[in-house]
Parts: sequence; structure tokens; C-alpha cells
Amino acid sequence: MEKLVVTGPTRLKGEVNISGAKNAAVAILPATLLIDGICTIENLPNISDIQISCKILEALGAKITWNNKNSLTIDTRNITTTKAPLDLTRKFRASYYLIGSMLSRMGEIEVGMPGGCKLGARPIDQHIKGFELLGANVTVEKGSIYAKAEKLKGSPVYMDIVSVGATINVMLSAVLAEGTTIIDNAAKEPHIVDVANFLNTMGADIRGAGTDVIKINGVEKLKGNATYSVVPDQIEAGTFMLAAVATQGDLLLKNCITKHLESITAKILEIGGNVEDFGDSIRVWCNKRPKKANIKTLPYPGFPTDLQPQMGVVLSLAEGTSMINESIWESRFQYTEELNKMGAKITAQGKTAFFEGVEKLSGAPVYSSDLRAGAALVIAGTAAEGITEIYNLEHIDRGYENIEEKFRNIGAKIERVNE
Ligand code: EPZ
Repeated sequence: MEKLVVTGPTRLKGEVNISGAKNAAVAILPATLLIDGICTIENLPNISDIQISCKILEALGAKITWNNKNSLTIDTRNITTTKAPLDLTRKFRASYYLIGSMLSRMGEIEVGMPGGCKLGARPIDQHIKGFELLGANVTVEKGSIYAKAEKLKGSPVYMDIVSVGATINVMLSAVLAEGTTIIDNAAKEPHIVDVANFLNTMGADIRGAGTDVIKINGVEKLKGNATYSVVPDQIEAGTFMLAAVATQGDLLLKNCITKHLESITAKILEIGGNVEDFGDSIRVWCNKRPKKANIKTLPYPGFPTDLQPQMGVVLSLAEGTSMINESIWESRFQYTEELNKMGAKITAQGKTAFFEGVEKLSGAPVYSSDLRAGAALVIAGTAAEGITEIYNLEHIDRGYENIEEKFRNIGAKIERVNE
């Protein structure tokens, strides 16, 4: 079993090149199934979720050629089956995008229920509501989803809850449908805009992505024959911004879109950190103990839930008592038990956690419960005095490209060790 061994404390200093956005890439890859042709995707993050996505697409008949570790060319002219490999699709959440894509391309799909981080119930009722409104028949039995549609017809779809996945999935099922689909109360995350931009590059007609009303006029087919570069990862950038504050370091993050980071920048300034915005890069530094703050996670442009654990590390070290209200997921405070093993004083109850700031954390063996909790533990280990051993690395490798290399390049003493 692998573990990360981190020796702290280290003030992180230097430059980080931000990779392409995981949550855009895991939607754009299945979206290539809408194309009866060939296209090239660049700036892909080199992470296990992408490797799994490619294996699933090849199992469906796609032909993939890697141009380099972050760029591939995919030929989806010959899709040979509508049954997705169960052992692969249950490994991550984004396998549900195969439903919207394959309903549009083949009119049917059988796929296992999606996996992904254990953050609570994670229902997909809004996805199913959208597919049914466009004329599909969807059943869930024996742990698999069966969806079929003779012909998808555009329809108004009102989202009962703001959902990234459902917004993207309904978009995927509407692109080749007959007529117009209007998604109301849509999610507005940068990765949703990126999926819409990708589809429009390939010949779709999607307007309003990034607002809460998205209009999709169905088209005959997507031609492909184009190259698309995935948007920089808002969450990876935010992770390193908060690492700079937690370790009282000084980082310059390159290849990011600072507009997507406004809620994190605002909070960092509020707690006494410093930010310099250069448009496509951002400098974050902090040379004193952060002040306390209250955080409520919200859909974009609010404070992202995917940065909640990382902010939890910062608030564990802040002056005074801070509070985090996790409004998106029922269970996203598992990491606080691990931080308490390192000397933090956190009390988590349901969707709220209180952080009584301590002067320092001390190294300890800790277990990553999910992707972003794992990143938070790397930050905590870098800030802590002593040695921290981080287990369950499969979670971290799903979403961060070479996390130990990126941290080592900015001064962290971190090694991946085989137990
Ligand atoms: C996406 O998950 C991300 N994953 C998550 O990031 C992220 O935390 C989440 O969006 C919110 O930003 C991917 O993009 C692969 P939702 P998703 O549908 O689409 C409820 C990470 O760390 N809901 O926006 O599954 C749901 O229970 C991961 O990168 C329904 O009730 O999230 C939640 O309370 C973790 N019914 C809320 O909506 C539905 O049909 C938001 O979920 C769908 C969702």
C-alpha cells in the first residue's frame, strides 16, 4: 500500500503550473460520443479519472491516440455497444455523463450506478427528470441504469436543485434533440461553461452557459474535426492558494483564470492574506497567522464546496473560532477527525463545523476519506511540525496530477512510499 510521507513545517514558496480542470475533462471526454468524427482534446489533467474515462470510451468502440500525457485525439465514428463496463463506471462519479451522451448518440445505454467520493446520498433524480422530459425512458435496477429514447425532443427543464452533473447531463441529451431545450435554475460552474464551449466548437448551439438559464437548440450532428483545450482547474488553483496561506508561504499560480477564483480571493483577503491578480496567473502570500472567518459553501460563484476541506486547514490554524457551513453535501467533514489527530480543535455537527484555532498542528498518521480531504491533509502535513503519513492515496490520485511533485517543487518535504 502506498502512503505520502510529509515532513513539516515548510513555508511553500515558488511557482505552480495549474492543470486542466478535472470536472470539465470528465464531462468533455464522454461528450465526444456526440461527435460522429474525430477531435483532439488538450490540457487534460493526467489523473486516474481521465485514464478510466478513456478505458470506458475504448470499451464502447472509440479509438484514442495520446499525443502527449495531456493531449489525445479521439475517433468516435464507430461506437459498437451501448453497454458500459460496470467494473469501470462504478469507479467514479462522472460515468453518469455516459447517459446523456449515449442517449443522444445511440438512443440507449446501460451503465452501473456512478461511484465517486462518499459525501452523502448523491441522488441522480434531477438527471433522470431531465432525460424523461426529453422523451427518454429510464429505469434503475440491480445497481444499473437503463435509458432508452426513440427520439429525444427538446423541452423546458426546471432544476429543483442547482446541480452541476444534472445541468451538464441534460445539456448532453439536448444537443442533438429535435427542437429547443431550456434549462432553468442551471448550475453556473466554470466547468459547465467549458463543456458548452467544447460542444459549440464541435457544432452545437448552446447559449447562456454560466448563467442560470441555458438554451440549447438541437442540431443534426456534431462534425468534430477541431481541437479543444480544457479550462484551467479552479479547484486545483484554489487548493494551492489556500496552501500558501496555511503554510504562511508565497506562491505564484500560473495558467489559471483568476475570475473563477474571486470567492477564494475575497476570503483570503478577509483573513489577512495577500493576493496579486495578473489575469492568467495569481500570487498569494501570507506572513502572519490568519484571522478567523465564517464560510458557507454555495454553488458558483459562491465559495466552492470542493475547497471546503482545504479552507478547514487554514481555519484550524487561524486566530479565534471560525465556522464552516457545508450547504451542498450532507457529509463532508470526515477530514476534521484526521485534523484533530494532528492537534486541531474542530467540532463537526451535521452540516456545520466549528474550528477553535490552534498555534500549530503536529504530524500524525492520517487517512484520506475523499479527493479534496486528501489534498487538505497534504496541506496540513506541510504546515504541521513533524512527520505526517497520509494513507488512501487512490482518492488523491483521482483528481490531482502528481500532487507530491507539485508540492516538492515549491519546497515541501514529501515522498510517496510503498509500505
Ligand atoms: C460535481 O458533483 C463535482 N463532481 C463535485 O466535485 C462537486 O462537489 C459538486 O459538483 C458540486 O460542485 C464532478 O463534477 C465530477 P451536484 P455532482 O449534482 O454533479 C444534489 C470533486 O471533489 N443533487 O452539483 O455530483 C446533491 O446531492 C467532486 O471534484 C440531487 O439532489 O454534484 C448535492 O446536494 C466531489 N439530485 C447537490 O445537489 C440530483 O439529481 C449538488 O450536487 C443531483 C444532485
